[in-house]
Amino acid sequence: MNQWKNLANQLYRNVISFGMSYFIKINNTFKVLFIVLLSFSFNSNAFSEESTKDIIKKRKSLFSQNYKLAKRISILLNEVEIEDSKKLMLRMSDNYLELLTLFPENTKEGHGTEALPIIWEEKDKFDALMKKSSDQMIKLASIIEDQDDFRAALKQYMWSSCKACHSRYRAPH
Ligand code: HEC
Repeated sequence: MNQWKNLANQLYRNVISFGMSYFIKINNTFKVLFIVLLSFSFNSNAFSEESTKDIIKKRKSLFSQNYKLAKRISILLNEVEIEDSKKLMLRMSDNYLELLTLFPENTKEGHGTEALPIIWEEKDKFDALMKKSSDQMIKLASIIEDQDDFRAALKQYMWSSCKACHSRYRAPH
């Protein structure tokens, strides 16, 4: 009789200890899963917030850089430094192409952006204008040495792009 009791006891303890260890395992798995999920959601939030800020900062800095390049180009042409001015024209062109990638959906507002919502309502038109501005700088570089009037050429191929885009897509500042 005692023998049976012992066996039942043994069995009972085994079942309990198996159950416990299973429970702890599950529990740990869930804990790990929970922590992983938590850090993921935290990270992805932080990540997207960070990237919004970075992208807006990046495009502002590229526009500012293009403004500086444009002024520099104008000065170089006054000094008839044609070859140097052409290099800067091509850099402006490249910057415009990079700018094409810097208007994703999550950068419509915040961080002092002056970009207007209409950009994303007609993204194709906006992108086409950016691409055209880039092409115009390549065109300018290819024709500049044959121009009599540098200022007129700059106006036609460089400065007109700024105005065409800002008047519709950038907030008055
Ligand atoms: C296809 C559109 C487009 C073209 C072309 C364009 N811009 Fe802009 N520009 C913008 C937009 C949109 C902003 C606002 C960006 C923001 O605040 O996120 C801007 C902002 C700027 C800024 C402010 C940057 C800052 O630090 O806030 C300057 C300076 C600027 N542009 C100069 C120029 C000049 C100079 C040209 C021409 C040589 C030019 N842009 C051509 C669309 C354009």
